[in-house]
Amino acid sequence: MRMYDLIMKKRDGDELTTEEINFFVGGYTDGSIPDYQVSALLMAIYFQKMNKRETADLTMAMVNSGDTIDLSAIEGVKVDKHSTGGVGDTTTLILGPIVAAAGVPVAKMSGRGLGHTGGTIDKLEAFEGFSVAMSIEKFMQNVNGVKIAIGGQTADLAPADKKLYALRDVTATVDNMSLIAGSIMSKKIASGADAIVLDIKTGSGAFMKNEDDAFELAREMVDIGNNVGRNTIGVITDMDQPLGFAVGNALEVKEAIDTLKGEGPEDLTELCLTLGAHMLVLGKKAKDAQEARKILKDIIKSGKGLQKLRELVVAQGGNPAYVDDASLFPVPAIVEEVISNVKGYVKAIKADDIGRAALVLGAGRETKESIIDLAVGIVLHKKIGDFVKKGEAIATIYANDAQKQKISTKMVLDAYEIVQEEIKAKPLIKGIVTKDGITRY
Ligand code: URA
Ligand code: CA
Repeated sequence: MRMYDLIMKKRDGDELTTEEINFFVGGYTDGSIPDYQVSALLMAIYFQKMNKRETADLTMAMVNSGDTIDLSAIEGVKVDKHSTGGVGDTTTLILGPIVAAAGVPVAKMSGRGLGHTGGTIDKLEAFEGFSVAMSIEKFMQNVNGVKIAIGGQTADLAPADKKLYALRDVTATVDNMSLIAGSIMSKKIASGADAIVLDIKTGSGAFMKNEDDAFELAREMVDIGNNVGRNTIGVITDMDQPLGFAVGNALEVKEAIDTLKGEGPEDLTELCLTLGAHMLVLGKKAKDAQEARKILKDIIKSGKGLQKLRELVVAQGGNPAYVDDASLFPVPAIVEEVISNVKGYVKAIKADDIGRAALVLGAGRETKESIIDLAVGIVLHKKIGDFVKKGEAIATIYANDAQKQKISTKMVLDAYEIVQEEIKAKPLIKGIVTKDGITRY
C-alpha cells in the first residue's frame, strides 16, 4: 500500500477502505509515514469528508493505536464528559468536583489546549505544584479515594490521535466532522468510561458554526459511543459568545472557583447544572434530571463542590491555598479596560475573535511548541443583550506586553457588535441527542 495512492483516492472523493485507514493511522503513529503526506491526506479528508463507516474505522484505528484503560477496578458507573471546545470553557473545573461530590466517580483524561486558551490541564497547572503525571494505579487509587482524578492523555493512550490532532491544529484541518468525532471518541473509548456526556458547541466560537452541523456531529459521536457499548448522550449548547466572563487560564480558574461558591456567571452555572444532571442520571445517582439538578445545587450551596476541588488539588500535588486566596494566582503586569466608544445593546460577541484576542496575549498555543502565559487573558463585562453606555468598560485585558495589549484591545472592540434596538439573550441549551433520537428545545 502506498500513501500517495490514499491521498489521491481521497482527493478525488473516493471512500477509503478499513485496511487503508488502518494503514495510514498505523504508519503515522510509528513514524513510517511523514507529516507532509498525512497533512495532505487530512486536507483531502477536510474537503471530501468521510462517511459513517470511514469515521467509525478511523475512530477504532486510533483507539487500537495504543493502550486502552480498564477502569473496572473502580466502583460505580464511570461517567466521562467531553466538550468539543469553545472559548473560555471552564466547565470541567466545576463539573468534575460537583459530580464527584455527588458520588459519581470522575476518571478524567484531559488534553492540553491547542487553540485560544489552554486546556483543562493547563488551567489546573495554575495551582502551584499541580500535576497530571501519575501512573494508572495512582489514577485509579485517587478515583476510588477522592472520587476524582484528572490525568493527562498519556503517550500510550490513542497516540495516533495525539499526533494527528497536533498536526491538524497547525494545518487548518481541525474543524471537520469526522476528524473531530473520531478524535474525541477515540480518547473517550480508550480511556475506559462506561458512559459519556458530550457537550457539543455551536456558534461563532465553536468548530461547528452551524447548529444543524452540531446536531449531526452529536449524532455521529453518540452513534459511535453506543455502538461500542458506551451509553453516550450529546447536549448541544451555544458558543455564540464566550462562556462565562473569563477567557484565559488563571482567570478561568478563578471563575470556576467563584462558580463553585455559587457566585459564578449565570450561563456557566446553568451549563454545569445541565451537563452535571445528565452525568448523575447516567451514573445512577439520580432518577431523573430534575432530581439531579437539585442534588447539584445543594452541593454548590453547602460548599461540598469547593471542598472537592481542594481535595482534587491536594491529591495531585497542588497547593490548595489558591482555592481560598485568589491573589496567589499569577498576575500580569498590565491590567487595562476596553472602553466602548458607542452606546447601545450588545447584539453579538464573535467568540472566536475574543479567543484570538486572548491568543495574541499568550493565553493559548499558536504552534505545538508555544508556551502558555497563565496570567494573561480577557474578562468580559458585557454579554449579549446587555446595555452599554458610551465610555463604559466592556472588558478588561490582562497582559504582560503593552504592544500585545493594544492589539488585543482593538480585537475585543471589533468582536463586539453593538446596536440601537433592544436585544434578547439567546437560550444556552439547544437540544439533546441520545441513542433514541434528537430533541430540539
Ligand atoms: N477536541 C478534540 O479532542 N479533538 C478534536 O478534534 C476537536 C476537539
Ligand atoms: Ca469563561
